[in-house]
Amino acid sequence: MLALFNEQITNEFAASHLYLSASIWFEARDWEGMASYMLAESSEERQHALSLIQFGNKRNMDIQLQSFPQPTSNWDSPDEVWGDIVTMERDNTGSLLKLAQAANACQDFAMLAFLNPFHMEQVDAEAKIGTILAKVKDEQKTPGLLRQLDHELGQEAASGP
Ligand SMILES: [Fe+2]
Repeated sequence: MLALFNEQITNEFAASHLYLSASIWFEARDWEGMASYMLAESSEERQHALSLIQFGNKRNMDIQLQSFPQPTSNWDSPDEVWGDIVTMERDNTGSLLKLAQAANACQDFAMLAFLNPFHMEQVDAEAKIGTILAKVKDEQKTPGLLRQLDHELGQEAASGP
């Protein structure tokens, strides 16, 4: 379970980095709303990593930070970026479930309780980003529509979580 816990910390940092890379990509192409949205998600993922670390520290777990692969940055279109984000969130859901299964096997009920809000966040994240990806796919054929979505996502990022 400790190995999976450390891996999950790495996954959260890697997710934060992918969101940051996406934010830079959108910023460079003047999609400012999507850039802000991605930046806000990047700090949320970093916050997830920090809260895992805080929980681990409280329990004197042997936390080891790990390296992670360079995030993608060579996308060709907005739907490719959102597609990679959806894939990353699904993978993250899977790794959280593996960690919960290990905690369950050890009857570590505190760990299970700690992980519960993370599972619920994944449900929300996957639903939300799936919807955004569908809109982006439809709307990038009509640039004016995608601009509207960009604006909405920017407003959402500005109003905070
Ligand atoms: Fe996360």
